[in-house]
Amino acid sequence: MKGIILAGGNGSRLSPLTTCVSKQLLPVYDKPMIYYPLSTMMLAGIREILLISNPEHLGAFQKLLGNGSSWGMQIEYLPQSTPRGLADAFLIGEDFIQNQPCSLILGDNIFYGSGLVEKVQDAAKVVNGAFIFAYPVKDPQRFGIVEFDDKFNAISLEEKPQHPRSNYAIPGLYFYDSQVTQFAKQVKPSKRGEIEITDINRMYLEQGNLHVSVFGRGMAWLDAGTPESLLQAANFIQAVEDRQGFLISHPDEIAYRMKFIDEEQFKFNIQKTVNPSLKSYLLSLL
Ligand code: DAU
Repeated sequence: MKGIILAGGNGSRLSPLTTCVSKQLLPVYDKPMIYYPLSTMMLAGIREILLISNPEHLGAFQKLLGNGSSWGMQIEYLPQSTPRGLADAFLIGEDFIQNQPCSLILGDNIFYGSGLVEKVQDAAKVVNGAFIFAYPVKDPQRFGIVEFDDKFNAISLEEKPQHPRSNYAIPGLYFYDSQVTQFAKQVKPSKRGEIEITDINRMYLEQGNLHVSVFGRGMAWLDAGTPESLLQAANFIQAVEDRQGFLISHPDEIAYRMKFIDEEQFKFNIQKTVNPSLKSYLLSLL
């Protein structure tokens, strides 16, 4: 399974923070936002990543993440000239995907909680159909929504409905089989002028091939697209890290724990770490 991180957009709700910095490079407490979705992909076992962002920000992402080799990964980069919609990721990424199964995560979506690793690793095994998630929210109008029947089978999908049929939002984490690029090519722009991921999901639903797994209350799904939610996400990460003494979503640690890299590479990464407290944390993992 390959993975795409979509990290473009205008970040207008965070302006002027985003006037010269990509939203997905802003800090969420002690690390750049992009570390969180990257870590989710890594925890799913995905090592080949395409990062898509605005042309003017790609260089900064490259400087931060490099080609992924120090984490035992391959990270490639491609520009998205305008935010045409989430389904555009599969058109931009067609050559990267090469008709293989591919996942997508939004660069501002943060996932944390017990059971996450198992769920994303199961989803990453999908070879037939699509695997998405559902999460209860109090403001479903803001999201893609899935409606279930009484046996918890998905029966309808809507993008930001005025009158939602359920309060189950679809988080920005999607796993697809090799049909995804062909489906993306069939999506027509919506009323808001975007090619919607919800239309791809609906094609899988109509095919009888959409698997939806519900994230329970024990899971934190945060996005960080407004000043309030960015601060809330930072406070959440700080509270949990401070209490437990573990870092949430640090790629060096995950690469080592997932055995993407051996001890020698991990020690090399530690040597290059300039932040003294981060260095002693990573050393303690050896
Ligand atoms: O967060 C989950 C929700 O994400 C889903 O429930 C919705 O179904 C899905 O449409 C999406 O809704 P949003 O309104 O949050 O999407 P937004 O346009 O804000 O884009 C999400 C992120 O993707 C944002 O960080 C910017 C980036 N983006 C967006 C578009 C449209 C791109 O990089 N390129 C794009 O073309």
